[in-house]
Amino acid sequence: MNITFTSLEKKHFPVMLDEVILTCAHVKEDQLVIDCTFGGGGYSKALLKLPNIKVVALDRDKSVTSRAKQLEKDFPKKFNFYNEKFSNLDKVIKKENKPDIIIFDLGLSTFQLQDYSRGFSFKSKEKIDMQMGLSKISAEKVINTLDENNLKLIIKILGEEQEAGKIARNIIKARATKKIDTVTELVRIIETSKKKNYNKKINVCTKTFQALRIFTNKETTELIEGLIKASQLIKFGGKIIVISFHSIEDKIVKYYFTNYSSNKSNPSRYMPTESNQKNSFFEKYKNNFLTPSPEELIKNPASRSAKLRKAVRTKQEFVYPKEFIEKFKKYIEIENDTL
Ligand SMILES: C[S@@+](CC[C@H](N)C(=O)[O-])C[C@H]1O[C@@H](n2cnc3c(N)ncnc32)[C@H](O)[C@@H]1O
Repeated sequence: MNITFTSLEKKHFPVMLDEVILTCAHVKEDQLVIDCTFGGGGYSKALLKLPNIKVVALDRDKSVTSRAKQLEKDFPKKFNFYNEKFSNLDKVIKKENKPDIIIFDLGLSTFQLQDYSRGFSFKSKEKIDMQMGLSKISAEKVINTLDENNLKLIIKILGEEQEAGKIARNIIKARATKKIDTVTELVRIIETSKKKNYNKKINVCTKTFQALRIFTNKETTELIEGLIKASQLIKFGGKIIVISFHSIEDKIVKYYFTNYSSNKSNPSRYMPTESNQKNSFFEKYKNNFLTPSPEELIKNPASRSAKLRKAVRTKQEFVYPKEFIEKFKKYIEIENDTL
């Protein structure tokens, strides 16, 4: 099959592709893989080259559709795409068989980041939109309507930004004179709010932008619901693979895989179990994860914060993991109750 690539696609390096493909290549015949985050289609395209694998891909971003439709034409019996959020995995899987492998490659794609009209990058001079797709609000609405306390909370908790208070105060001050429309205006506000001796390794705007993006797209709620649905829907013996890029995502994945694996009998010793049943959805999981190889880091420095975790589903019947929700309630509440 002759697959064609655009120039941006040539610059797009799917993170830890070899590690993902190696995990999938071990599967037996006629396997179904769900690529929950199609993006540039790097994983899907590579998987479709393997024999006996059918791929179903999802992405919340409509702009990936033409790329996905082309793959549907190239592999009519092996590939289907749905413009859907992975928190709705059950809707998609109802139309398909039970999957053997479910992959989540979290966050933004190169295509989203480099499309400055979407306002994800602090290099953009355009509108502060930040909607990944199927989102209900824009970041522009968030910074122009939320009160100071809520803005501070979002920037502090979802961005882990120590100077959240000052940034929130300066956003309120600036918008009292004029609505904040562009990324340039927001960048200026953040730069004047931050102390001069900031950590030079990361851009001063990184944490605030992360917070606004996560909030706008309810990303932690999506991850929590996506993981729960994946473990409910996957075949016994199937694998869930997650590639995360920041500490909040990784904390959630690590907790879920560790505390619902057969090496733990109770998700937390401080919390009673919701039933007498031991919640062991996954085989033994001892906080093991992979990171990009030195060669990949040279080729694609943007992969430096990636962590790949995978867990294998046991035969235990699914029991709704209430403790998991309880543990990360803080994020769910901020994303869902603030506006
Ligand atoms: C890092 S990129 C994936 C790159 C892809 N693995 C590749 O090889 O090209 C993440 C993609 O996931 C999508 N995404 C993020 N959150 C999502 C969600 N909750 N549901 C569906 N898609 C999501 C984004 O729109 C983006 O296109």
